[in-house]
Formats: sequence, C-alpha cells, structure tokens
Amino acid sequence: MGRRLNIVVGVTGGIAAYKAVNVIRGLVLAGHDVHVVATDAALRFVGTPTLEAISRNTVHTSLYEGVAEVRHVAIGQAADLIVIAPATANTIAKLAAGLADDLLGNTVLASRAPVVIAPAMHTEMWQHPATVNNIAVLVSRGVTVVGPAVGQLTGTDSGPGRLEEPEEIIRAALAVLQPKDLDGRRILITAGGTREALDPVRYLGNRSSGKQGVALAVAAAARGADVTLIAANLEVAAPSSIRVVPVISTLELAAAVQDAARDVDAVIMAVAVADYRPEFVADEKLKKEAVGDRVMLALVKNPDILAGLAETRRPGQLIIGFAAETEPDRDAMLELGRAKIARKNSDLLVLNRVGWSEGFGTDQNTIVMIDSLGAIVMEASGSKQTVADRIFDAVVARLA
Ligand code: PMT
Repeated sequence: MGRRLNIVVGVTGGIAAYKAVNVIRGLVLAGHDVHVVATDAALRFVGTPTLEAISRNTVHTSLYEGVAEVRHVAIGQAADLIVIAPATANTIAKLAAGLADDLLGNTVLASRAPVVIAPAMHTEMWQHPATVNNIAVLVSRGVTVVGPAVGQLTGTDSGPGRLEEPEEIIRAALAVLQPKDLDGRRILITAGGTREALDPVRYLGNRSSGKQGVALAVAAAARGADVTLIAANLEVAAPSSIRVVPVISTLELAAAVQDAARDVDAVIMAVAVADYRPEFVADEKLKKEAVGDRVMLALVKNPDILAGLAETRRPGQLIIGFAAETEPDRDAMLELGRAKIARKNSDLLVLNRVGWSEGFGTDQNTIVMIDSLGAIVMEASGSKQTVADRIFDAVVARLA
C-alpha cells in the first residue's frame, strides 16, 4: 500500500446510500483513515452505527458539533481526498452553487483536496438540463465524476443514474491522487487464459482468472496511460474506462496482440497461454459412444506470442513477460526464469509461483522481476493490485 490517506466520504440522501457502506469499507481495508460526513437525509437511509463501525471513526453530521475545534472547516482542511457517494441531484446542485448550509457543503468549500462524486438518481433527474449544467460546472472546477452506471434503478425502471459499483468508485477516487507518470504512454496488457476448443461445448484451458492482468490494466490507467487490455476469458470485470479486446483462443490472442502492439510503448503478457491446441476441432459434440473408453488427442503447437513480439519490437518498445512456475525452490525457480527470458528475449520477466492454491485465481501474489541478463530488478508481495503497482514502478523507470 502507498501513503495512508485522510479521506472524507460524504454520504447524501438517496436509496443508494447503503452502497456507500461498501465504499467506506473498501477504503478502510485499503489502509486509509476514513471520516464520514453524512447529511441528515443520508441518515434516513443508513444508520450512524453502521457508518461508524465500518469507518472506525465518529460520523459527522451537524454544523453545530465540535464548534470549539472549528469542525465545519477542520474536516475539509485535513482531507487528502473527498469522495461523495452517492451524490444526489440536490447535493450536486448545492456543490455547483457553492452552498454551505450543511456540514458537507462547508467541508467541501474549506478543502483544497480533490473532490470525487458518484452521482445516483433517476434517469430523468440525471438528464435534466439543470443537473447536466451543474455537472458541467463541477467538471470545469476539476471535480471527478464517477458514473453513473446504466442499469436497474430503485423502482422498476432502468437507465443511466445507477450508482457506480463501489469497487469502481474506490478505484477512480484513489486514481485521482496517483502520479500520472505514464501520461501519454500507450500500454498493451494481456490477461486471463486462452481456451482451445475440442468441440462446440468443450475446451482445453487453464485456471487463470485474469485478476493479475486486470490489476495491471487498472494500475497503468491510474498512472495516466492509454491502456488496451486483451482479455482471454476473464472471471473478473475490467473497469469500464479501459478498452477491452475479448479473445478466446491462442490464435485469436496472437492476432489481437499483433494488431494492438504496433504502436504501444510497452506490452505486458500476463495472459496464461495454451501452448498446444487440438489438431482437429469437432463440429458437433463428441459422443462417448463414438469415442470409446480411451481418447487420444492430437495437439499442435501454438505460436509463442511473447517471443514473436520480442523479435519484431520497434526500438524503445518494452516487452515484458510473465513466468508461471510450480518449482518450489526459489533459486531453481530463478534459474527457470533466466532460461525463459533468454529463450523469449523479452526485456523483463515477472516470475510468480503457481500451484493448486497459489498464483491462479488468488487475490495475492508474490513476484520476482528479472532483466534480460537474469539480474533481479525488484521483488514484491501483496495484493495483485499492489504487485501491479510495483511492476509499473519498474516499467516507468525503464521507459524513462
Ligand atoms: O489470472 P490470475 O488468476 O490472476 O493468475 C495470474 C497468472 C498466474 C496467470 C499470471 O500472473 C501469470 O503468471 N501469467 C503467465 C502465465 C504463463 O503462461 O506463463 P508461462 O510461463 O507458461 O509463459 C511465459 C510467458 O510467455 C508468458 O508471458 C505468456 O503470456 C507467454 N506465452 C506463453 C506461451 C505462448 N505460446 N505464447 C506466449 O506468449
């Protein structure tokens, strides 16, 4: 984790206020000090005890509490970041007008911290010219607007106006404070695992969930990069702000990578690739009666996409591979990595151990990055997001 931030979460009065609890929880679990400022209307939807238990701090509501310590300005002055979720049409209008008739309005006006709002309201209210105008005013002042998403609203209606998912609000909010050291850079990331069809219903594949690759895409985008994510059968969603190219098989992946890699500054191959594919793909479901008790599968080798990228890279382009190894001994694993980077000729290689319960599908990872001479560049351990950030520290240094 980076620096522990003082984050004010403003909660305003909409049905989606209950989802603010998950925003607060996610920020606390990410190691930040979260102070909730709730409007009176918000407390009709979600209770103070819940907000206090989850934020681990006293919830502030009234302008007239803590007057001796000048709380109406102190909270905003101390904040590194203000996140308002949900932000109702009423609060958005008040923010646009600069009103300070409640504690949240005072907190925002008294703060120099970046402000992120996550609007939630019915579609008609979101599309009303008054709201459209208020949002434009806030954006012109540098406020970051996350969402709203399109989907089911409180009643039976659906459309734009649904609060963005808490994980996306957290991601977008924290991204505001990231140094934009990949601004103007184009980065291609591959994620997930390729599948090779046997027939219309079966495939050969691997257990990659795509978590590590998506975390890399999120980290690069937060640092200002223009990111393309080539996604092979992901089990996790990529943020809507990232350009995603879906693929299924290794040959599809190879074609998509070749196309997208042409003008990027760096390629990171976190995708787990099927080295072989069935020589023949049945047009119809294979029947046990026809196949019998033993099956012999003829497999043909897939192209080595990483090696191909390294061979055709243009000057200055950085090619980074991953190595998934089951070898338990660290030194032996490093030797496998050194042989792999020599074979594939990438600039950097990120080694991680995989097995029945590590690497694939987990939320944590432990990596060692080596360079083309086999020297250790860095090591990192923690959430896949933390690991992704450390990888980009090294990538930024190389690109510079
Ligand atoms: O998705 P998760 O569940 O979060 O899991 C993450 C991960 C463990 C899958 C990921 O961190 C990882 O290790 N990805 C690489 C998996 C892999 O295919 O490793 P490998 O050692 O078999 O291949 C080495 C490198 O060559 C990889 O960059 C791979 O993308 C590339 N390759 C492999 C074969 C092939 N035919 N073409 C390739 O480009």
